[in-house]
Amino acid sequence: MNCDFARQPYTRLHELKRVVRHVEDRVVLITGAGQRLGAATAARMMDEGWHVLVHVRSSVEEAQALLDRAANKHGQSRGTLLVADLTVDADLERLVREVKDHPLVTSHGLAGLVHNASFYSQGSFEETSLQTYRSLNRLHMDAPYLLTQALLPALELAGGSVVAVVDTSWGRAWEGLAHYTSSKAGLRQLMLNLAGELAGRVRVNCLAPGAIMAADWEVEHFAKVLEKVPLGRSGQAEDIAAGIHFLLTNGTITGNVLHVDGGWSLNE
Ligand SMILES: NC(=O)c1ccc[n+]([C@@H]2O[C@H](COP(=O)([O-])OP(=O)(O)OC[C@H]3O[C@@H](n4cnc5c(N)ncnc54)[C@H](OP(=O)(O)O)[C@@H]3O)[C@@H](O)[C@H]2O)c1
Repeated sequence: MNCDFARQPYTRLHELKRVVRHVEDRVVLITGAGQRLGAATAARMMDEGWHVLVHVRSSVEEAQALLDRAANKHGQSRGTLLVADLTVDADLERLVREVKDHPLVTSHGLAGLVHNASFYSQGSFEETSLQTYRSLNRLHMDAPYLLTQALLPALELAGGSVVAVVDTSWGRAWEGLAHYTSSKAGLRQLMLNLAGELAGRVRVNCLAPGAIMAADWEVEHFAKVLEKVPLGRSGQAEDIAAGIHFLLTNGTITGNVLHVDGGWSLNE
């Protein structure tokens, strides 16, 4: 029998699909995983025994420290560091090659793909340039589109799934955030569409954090936001990590947007 899965067309891959049985053979790529919510998710998945492809753009030292901590804790390497600017085509293509060529991905496929990388800034509509708008679309929509498409055979091979980290901002107006919220809404719709189109091949879900971890520029605004959150507090990065782990491992959930927001979306 020809075992070169990578060269099989999708239909054949589908027939050959198998669920990876040993947790240590499960590989997840998490974008923007060097700091904050992405790093907490990478740490959680490594604790759960998965091998994490920790993608960063600039947080190389932080990611290396994260990988070292996990290796010390578990007595063996639990991840691999990958560096790419997701708004640069050549970087994206290299990242795809590196993921596909990873020995665990070659042998077991990719069990998880988490689109987490983001850039959050505020600026009025009149002041925000088309260049900034395009850059956010590249980061929040083009990169997830290309990564999901290019890694689909590897995801199918592992019986894997995709999670996009979106935002509770969907469907409402936010001061000075049109460029951010519109690209996140596009990502949400892309994922929901793919959940339908790829059903039976790869599960696709979204996780929508509420006010979890303030950006440096919004500390004051963040405190005001918390007054509107029914639970009256921000969540923890670990709550996001737990939600992503849940979506990656529950084999019956697809096309879902899991709000981890203390009920904030009820009040807006
Ligand atoms: N924090 C919250 O309370 C909150 C609320 C709602 C939604 N979210 C969503 O949850 C996710 C995680 O939130 P966060 O606050 O932890 O995110 P973040 O710190 O704003 O961004 C995560 C990472 O994205 C990477 N990134 C930025 N531009 C990039 C580029 N051009 N190419 C590749 N990577 C790039 C950065 O990597 P480097 O550091 O390596 O440069 C950064 O560490 C995001 O998708 C965010 O939109 C967060």
